[in-house]
Amino acid sequence: MHELGKLEDLPQGYRDDLTATNLVPLWPSMRAVLPPRIPTRHTQVLNWSYESVRPLLLQAGELTPMEKAERRVLVLANPGHGLENMQATPSIYLGLQLILPGETAPNHRHTPNAVRVIVEGEGAFTTVDGEPCRMERGDLILTPAGKWHEHHHEGTGPIVWLDVLDLPLVYRLESSWAMEGQLQQKRSERDKSFADYSAAGVVPNMGFQRGDSNSPMLRYPWAKTRTCLLEMASEYPEGLLSISYVNPENGTPLFPSIGFGALMLRPGETITLPKRTTPVVFHVVEGAGQMNVVGHASAGAEPLDFINKDTLCAPGYTDITLTNRSATEPAFLISADESPLHQYLGIF
Ligand SMILES: [Fe+2]
Repeated sequence: MHELGKLEDLPQGYRDDLTATNLVPLWPSMRAVLPPRIPTRHTQVLNWSYESVRPLLLQAGELTPMEKAERRVLVLANPGHGLENMQATPSIYLGLQLILPGETAPNHRHTPNAVRVIVEGEGAFTTVDGEPCRMERGDLILTPAGKWHEHHHEGTGPIVWLDVLDLPLVYRLESSWAMEGQLQQKRSERDKSFADYSAAGVVPNMGFQRGDSNSPMLRYPWAKTRTCLLEMASEYPEGLLSISYVNPENGTPLFPSIGFGALMLRPGETITLPKRTTPVVFHVVEGAGQMNVVGHASAGAEPLDFINKDTLCAPGYTDITLTNRSATEPAFLISADESPLHQYLGIF
């Protein structure tokens, strides 16, 4: 590609006239927005080690009472996007939220889609549109755009979960807003993962209206995902062991914006993931290992170590290799990426 004219090549008077008329010449910036073959990626390779974050999160619990926080969250901000922009990737917001025993987060709803991945603690539940969703380690709890949700914690220790939202995307679409509501009335005693969607390939007929684009299942229990990955491991002695979380009625991703998945690393295994356009976030549910990223300036020469409860991030258009450090135990990671959006846009 040949070199294009620079802004400084233009007479100052002409540049001033353009500015006064709200005009910008494209050619000086064209290579920046349309670089040759590889996109500019602000997302940096990163590990938010839970060991570092946890004491700061508990400190937030001492420094800021719930009335002053409403949602007591430390945002996992990727410095490549500017910390103040609170982005892990272009479309994904990540936050670690702490609720102490007896605390509640008031009923509210918002336009961004949200999933929470339970990191530690027991005895909490999120009520989504009247459906109480128990929160256990590794579970995914969904609150699709516009659904009412409130959090309660009746356990004894702190509870921490990882919020995953498409907030940066919805914010840039100038469509991000929230509202508060009255305490919800429970409509059932248990979430739908217990009965309606307790088995893969079997869906309920009673009073269900098919065709809604939102997943009718709001809680994806980790225990079931883990069992599924272990069953796959006994069937397939080699190759990538991964699953996608989908709407059980129609197989589509949980949200149009963010795709969720989980993968298992066999003991001692090192595996390179298929190269993809979308950046990716990993949350380590079990085990310890290393992530090596090739193809981005932010990746250091050495792989990043990770352990249970860490959250990692890598940009797209890179080669990501994951290693399980244990020779005897499997490792499990939950992933979130922007693949549904990339597919919709035809750039995947
Ligand atoms: Fe919320």
